[in-house]
Amino acid sequence: MDDRNGWGRGRPVPAGSPHSPPEWFVEQANVTDSEIDEEFTENWPDCWERAADLLSWEEPYDTVLDDSSAPFYEWFTGGELNAAYNCLDRHLEAGRKTHAAIRWEGKHGEYETYTYRDLYVAVNEFAAALCDLGVEEDDVVTIYLPMIPELPIAMLACARIGAPHSVVFAGLSANALSTRMAAADSEYLITCDGYYRRGDAFNQKSKADNAKLSVEADVETVVVDRLGDELPHVLGENEWDYDGLREEFAGETVEPVSRDAEDMLFLMYTSGTTGEPKGVVHTTGGYLAHVAWTSRAVLDVEPDDTYWCAADIGWITGHSYIVYGPLALGTTTVMYEGTPDYPDRDRLWEIVDRNAVDVFYTAPTAIRAFMKWGEKYPARHDLSSLRLLGSVGEPISPRPWRWYHEHVGGGECPIVDTWWQTETGAVIVSTLPGIDEMKPGAAGPPLPGIDVAIVDENGAPVDPGETGYLTITRPWPGMIRTLYDGDDRYRSEYWERFSDPNAGEWRYFSGDTAAVDEDGYVTVLGRVDDVINVSGRRLSTMEIESAITDVDGIAESAVVGRASKPNGTEIYAYVSTEGRSNPGDGLRRAIVENVESAIGPIAKPHEVVFTPELPKTRSGKIMRRLLEDIANDEAVGDTSALRNPEIVGEIRAGREDDT
Ligand code: PRX
Repeated sequence: MDDRNGWGRGRPVPAGSPHSPPEWFVEQANVTDSEIDEEFTENWPDCWERAADLLSWEEPYDTVLDDSSAPFYEWFTGGELNAAYNCLDRHLEAGRKTHAAIRWEGKHGEYETYTYRDLYVAVNEFAAALCDLGVEEDDVVTIYLPMIPELPIAMLACARIGAPHSVVFAGLSANALSTRMAAADSEYLITCDGYYRRGDAFNQKSKADNAKLSVEADVETVVVDRLGDELPHVLGENEWDYDGLREEFAGETVEPVSRDAEDMLFLMYTSGTTGEPKGVVHTTGGYLAHVAWTSRAVLDVEPDDTYWCAADIGWITGHSYIVYGPLALGTTTVMYEGTPDYPDRDRLWEIVDRNAVDVFYTAPTAIRAFMKWGEKYPARHDLSSLRLLGSVGEPISPRPWRWYHEHVGGGECPIVDTWWQTETGAVIVSTLPGIDEMKPGAAGPPLPGIDVAIVDENGAPVDPGETGYLTITRPWPGMIRTLYDGDDRYRSEYWERFSDPNAGEWRYFSGDTAAVDEDGYVTVLGRVDDVINVSGRRLSTMEIESAITDVDGIAESAVVGRASKPNGTEIYAYVSTEGRSNPGDGLRRAIVENVESAIGPIAKPHEVVFTPELPKTRSGKIMRRLLEDIANDEAVGDTSALRNPEIVGEIRAGREDDT
């Protein structure tokens, strides 16, 4: 692993003073001390049966954990189940047909409720349509939809027929879509004409059309009409209208396919340490058990709650905690199409108020924005329905933590700061809100049944307060099973660094640095690899760099993150050109545009700094750590390993000229 960021940018800051969960919360909490007793913690891996017990199994499993081919672990082997059955049918059978499953809040203030019965009907009809289009068990179906109800409907329809879905975030580019479709050999695509972003209509279909040009297979495509007359579209060959299909298969039902616990439920592409995105494979039994258990234990979700995770289903947070976790528990999950400040900054609080949301889960980047906008927005809405708040995606420092606690949670609601990843599938580190004290700035201890160690480069645990690498020392049910692109990459990305296979010791490396305190509370500091976390989204520096060097006239580039208050991390690109002494704004614009079209607007560099050369070691490796120091206005560390130390001063001067 390239250790270019050293120990990560941050140093552990002392967490804020602890808060105990209020008594009223503990009294009603789903999980309290009595459930997490000694028997639970000592009884590993069988303690995870409590998670599996939250599901309905068609065929009971015979083994909780099969670790005979580590690090290719298998959970609940022999068991059979269907995820869509668990999220729909069984709630109907329990007499909850008219209970709201999804409350959808549209961009323009329109809203819709799908009861469990409505969702069941929609999923069945669409599943019948998919079968008719030729989708078979184990075919990967790519879904490229924004936050509209058809997105979870399509996911559950795939799950029902045993076709793994691969959801690509709607804001990603045509190029990103085609790479992911090709990598997954996916011949089915579900997309839409377009969607609204702030006030504007965006054309999604033209991106999908472009993507399909570079996919070899004939792709059967379903198009959802979101924009109607606002953006008329024409269906081409092998393209089908979603509503037309629903009509054609109206009233049809499809038997849920019995899936082996270890059969793939979905694929999710995420950024890795190389330019190629990684296809993370999640399976049916362990994943669903883990997301259901953490929805219940960490997010304290109850079937009669209205629960809102304000994330996008295009990323793992939305998969686990908008769709699968809450629906497996039979609760009401809110889905919001828009942005927090459109049409105004009251939007989220209006939604909490109107839906009487009980549990609200969002990201620190949003919380920092709320803090910047000011307390008047949450203050003028009735947020008294809220019982618990959650945070995910980035470290939350004590100040925004306290702001969230006071101005959204009325000084009353506990907060869970949940650390996890696309690869972990579900929450790994967090306080249990009915049991543990909260420490603002520290995520918490590993969940019961999970073992985390913060270690030095030799794998030895570091002392409390010292920074180290965040590793997970025992397998867990929601874990990644492999990478779609290959078992070797899976081993080398996650297991090689800290495992000792000869001693039978396997340790998962998260790519994060962290510190642990005397009480075992983990404070996560950031990534150690070539990944930048921008607004809780993982971007690969190499993917951005390759989009930059694609531009004519660019020789080389290096991308780093700059910690910015209050915006979180921003992307800085250092670029050397092919001989031009004064590249100018035209080239700068071309770079930004190319990154946007290659990856999407979220990856656009905040600043492009031209430099005659990049700082390199004698072996020719770019010293990104120095560039990061410069971007962060910090003293530049040791430059003695550089082949061209003089360049550091030039870059710094160049940056000052530019800003
Ligand atoms: O660096 C950690 C950060 O987000 C990374 C995982 O990103 P992704 O796979 O996109 O999943 C995001 C949603 C689970 C982690 O490696 N991260 C996530 N949650 C936290 C966090 N950093 C600090 N505190 C958190 N609570």
